[in-house]
Amino acid sequence: MFSCLLQTILISPSLGAATVNASYILAPSSRDIYPASLRTVNGSVSNASNLVLDHGHATFLGNSAVTLDFGKNVAGLVSFEVFSSTNSTEYIGFTFSESSLWISGEISDATTGTDAPLWFAVSEVGAYTAASEFSRGGFRYLSILHNTTGSVQLRDVSVHFTAMPHIGDSAMGDYSGYFHSVDEKLNRVWYAGAYTNQLCTIDPTRGNSIIRFTGGSTLPGTNMNIWYNNDTIANGTSALVDGGKRDRIIWPGDMAIAVPSIFVSTNDLISVRNSLDALFILQEETGALPYAGYPFSKLGLFSFTYHLYTLVGLYNYHLFTGNETYLSELWNPFKKALDFSLSYVDDSRLMNVTDTNDWGRFGMSGHNIEANAILYYTIGLGIQLADVMGDSSATSSWQQHAVAIKEAANTRLWDAAAGLYRDNETTTLHPQDGNVWAIISNITSNSSQIASISRKLSSRWTSVGPPAIELADTVSPFISGLELQAHYLAGQPERALELIRFMWADFMLDDPRMTNSTFIEAYATDGSLHYAAYTDDSRISHAHGWSSGPTSALSFHAAGLGLVSAQGKIWAMTPQPGDLETVEAGFETGLGLFSARFKVDGSGWQYIFQTPKGTSGSLSVERPECDGVLSLVSSDIGSENRTMIVEGYPLAEQPPVKERIVITELQGGDWDATLTCS
Ligand SMILES: *[C@@H]1O[C@H](CO)[C@@H](O)[C@H](O)[C@H]1NC(C)=O
Ligand SMILES: *[C@@H]1O[C@H](CO)[C@@H](O)[C@H](O)[C@H]1NC(C)=O
Ligand SMILES: *[C@@H]1O[C@H](CO)[C@@H](O)[C@H](O)[C@H]1NC(C)=O
Ligand SMILES: *[C@@H]1O[C@H](CO)[C@@H](O)[C@H](O)[C@H]1NC(C)=O
Ligand SMILES: *[C@@H]1O[C@H](CO)[C@@H](O)[C@H](O)[C@H]1NC(C)=O
Ligand SMILES: *[C@@H]1O[C@H](CO)[C@@H](O)[C@H](O)[C@H]1NC(C)=O
Ligand SMILES: *[C@@H]1O[C@H](CO)[C@@H](O)[C@H](O)[C@H]1NC(C)=O
Ligand SMILES: *[C@@H]1O[C@H](CO)[C@@H](O)[C@H](O)[C@H]1NC(C)=O
Ligand SMILES: *[C@@H]1O[C@H](CO)[C@@H](O)[C@H](O)[C@H]1NC(C)=O
Ligand SMILES: *[C@@H]1O[C@H](CO)[C@@H](O)[C@H](O)[C@H]1NC(C)=O
Ligand SMILES: *[C@@H]1O[C@H](CO)[C@@H](O)[C@H](O)[C@H]1NC(C)=O
Ligand SMILES: *[C@@H]1O[C@H](CO)[C@@H](O)[C@H](O)[C@H]1NC(C)=O
Repeated sequence: MFSCLLQTILISPSLGAATVNASYILAPSSRDIYPASLRTVNGSVSNASNLVLDHGHATFLGNSAVTLDFGKNVAGLVSFEVFSSTNSTEYIGFTFSESSLWISGEISDATTGTDAPLWFAVSEVGAYTAASEFSRGGFRYLSILHNTTGSVQLRDVSVHFTAMPHIGDSAMGDYSGYFHSVDEKLNRVWYAGAYTNQLCTIDPTRGNSIIRFTGGSTLPGTNMNIWYNNDTIANGTSALVDGGKRDRIIWPGDMAIAVPSIFVSTNDLISVRNSLDALFILQEETGALPYAGYPFSKLGLFSFTYHLYTLVGLYNYHLFTGNETYLSELWNPFKKALDFSLSYVDDSRLMNVTDTNDWGRFGMSGHNIEANAILYYTIGLGIQLADVMGDSSATSSWQQHAVAIKEAANTRLWDAAAGLYRDNETTTLHPQDGNVWAIISNITSNSSQIASISRKLSSRWTSVGPPAIELADTVSPFISGLELQAHYLAGQPERALELIRFMWADFMLDDPRMTNSTFIEAYATDGSLHYAAYTDDSRISHAHGWSSGPTSALSFHAAGLGLVSAQGKIWAMTPQPGDLETVEAGFETGLGLFSARFKVDGSGWQYIFQTPKGTSGSLSVERPECDGVLSLVSSDIGSENRTMIVEGYPLAEQPPVKERIVITELQGGDWDATLTCS
């Protein structure tokens, strides 16, 4: 046998299960969860630590409070038991906070405004549980308040976990995908991204925490928001929303990052589909798709980019599931929507953006590079889907538009002196979003532009992440998740890894203001948890699926598992391990398991990968610096042995985007690629 490693690690169909190290999975193993530690006691609370240790009694006397820490972000309904209550007017209240910054005995962190505590009148002994509309979608800290002169004896304070409502109570951690590398930071980040998306997967009848859309009110005599989540935002039994705490609404832009990261980890695509359905059902006669789902859609806003992101969502859903019936149901809406965007292409041959709505950034208008790059990208997806549908009626018009948009973008918006694209013709601002989308969409006309954008963007990094200068002093993990993809596409895996390490691990997990489990929506370049898009810092969500970009980037690019056609019928393995000595990942589609493991081996390396029988694809590896032999052999496909001599080249001679060796026409099966330097 050429490799016992393949036998033990790769060939077993249970590779996924065997390789997942459950200790990284943050999803709870049961829906009833108890606090992990006691953080503070205010006033007179006897035996407060019992609430953590054995879920036993604690006695609140007079004005008093405790703060409990779940050790990670959680979501759900509070329940507790009153063992004794001395007075007919006793109350127990709860406040919630994702960040330690907003722990308070007065208010919860904000959804729309200042959120009131959740109060219970507890004159009777017995069990109490919050009504289902008062599930709180994201909190790490739970404070218990007692505001009267008597005393209340409580026990069994717990939270019934409400995220992932469609999954069996003990199956929330049964991921079908996995990731592991020599770098613990990356491992933690990958699993935190997966868990972030789980907190954003909710019961669609418990949507919308922005109650002003449904006529919500303030608590009489206060400026506090009476909050609840009970709008029906989608059909089905689960839906993917933007954030756990808020908005609990379907936002198509967010899905561009969340959906691929869901696919590589939990593969929970039914929730994605329910959310896509809820967006497409709101399509207007003109073809326009909503900026966001119900009830935000009541505002009647349009976004040129979010409109296109719904189409990207449909493409991704089809890519990951291969459901052609579903695609065919939405094919006419797709064409209509894309043609609607193209109707805004003017004499400049670029789309003129006439609505400023986007991911939160300022200055979205005119011949904007981000919007035009996303349009260019979506046309490319449309052409691929047209091929799947066997409907070429729009293809040649789309192709002409694509050629024209690309040429115009490069003539009008490429700033050669800066080595970056300008936001539009009338500005010197070089946005992060438009430049990362320029690489992802391949609107660039040559590889020096790609190399330049990757280099220039990385040279702007602050110690907490890339500045999204198109939104004041913001660091956007959403746009930075796209930036990771851009660095990989530019052949710069080291940059992507560095960014994941210092931004997602050191800051977004390890900073004490974070939840150490889910990823924050946005913050500021000076490291303060302030987001220029909002006036209230406590409003920022700490579980936002759009911040889970490393999870898919690591599986697709570091481990190199690439799908070219639906479900990976055609695949492209493109490992970019960067400085990692070992990295492995796997995921499943309806065709079977895709997995790969890279390891540095002597002066060369070994990359073993497995793809399902009946599929086909290619392998692309970086041309090495050394001369050597690259062997590619299959352990289970007859006589496959593609051994070749490779000529290395010294670093100094490398082109702007490193050359790669591509080996095509490989059949699905178990492969072992080994580079041996001579
Ligand atoms: C799982 O990962 C943890 C943390 O790295 C490690 O301590 C433990 O040994 C691992 N367990 C297995 C079975 O690999
Ligand atoms: C407990 O007291 C501290 C110090 O006054 C305060 O910052 C904190 O908000 C209080 N916590 C609660 C839950 O009342
Ligand atoms: C305690 O809080 C409840 C609920 O807000 C309120 O009705 C009650 O008046 C408060 N009691 C005191 C003494 O503040
Ligand atoms: C019950 O609560 C009321 C209002 O706070 C207070 O005046 C009264 O003294 C309390 N009674 C006892 C037995 O604590
Ligand atoms: C949602 O819950 C709030 C607070 O309990 C309630 O006032 C409202 O009627 C509920 N709305 C729906 C649609 O159930
Ligand atoms: C649920 O499906 C029905 C029937 O297609 C549709 O009328 C309704 O708008 C959908 N609800 C949501 C919230 O999308
Ligand atoms: C594919 O989509 C069709 C049409 O929407 C649906 O009926 C079917 O259940 C889907 N198949 C799978 C496997 O999800
Ligand atoms: C875009 O269209 C608007 C509305 O028609 C127009 O006012 C504006 O000048 C156009 N922008 C550009 C850059 O052509
Ligand atoms: C061009 O971009 C700048 C920077 O984002 C923005 O302030 C300005 O409004 C944009 N101009 C037009 C015409 O869209
Ligand atoms: C990207 O654009 C370049 C230059 O126009 C072209 O040569 C290349 O084939 C494109 N790459 C892909 C993947 O389409
Ligand atoms: C963060 O969580 C990890 C487990 O995911 C744990 O090992 C680490 O101790 C936690 N850090 C802090 C500061 O709590
Ligand atoms: C593949 O071919 C090379 C060169 O012909 C040979 O040295 C090597 O032993 C072969 N490997 C296998 C596993 O057959």
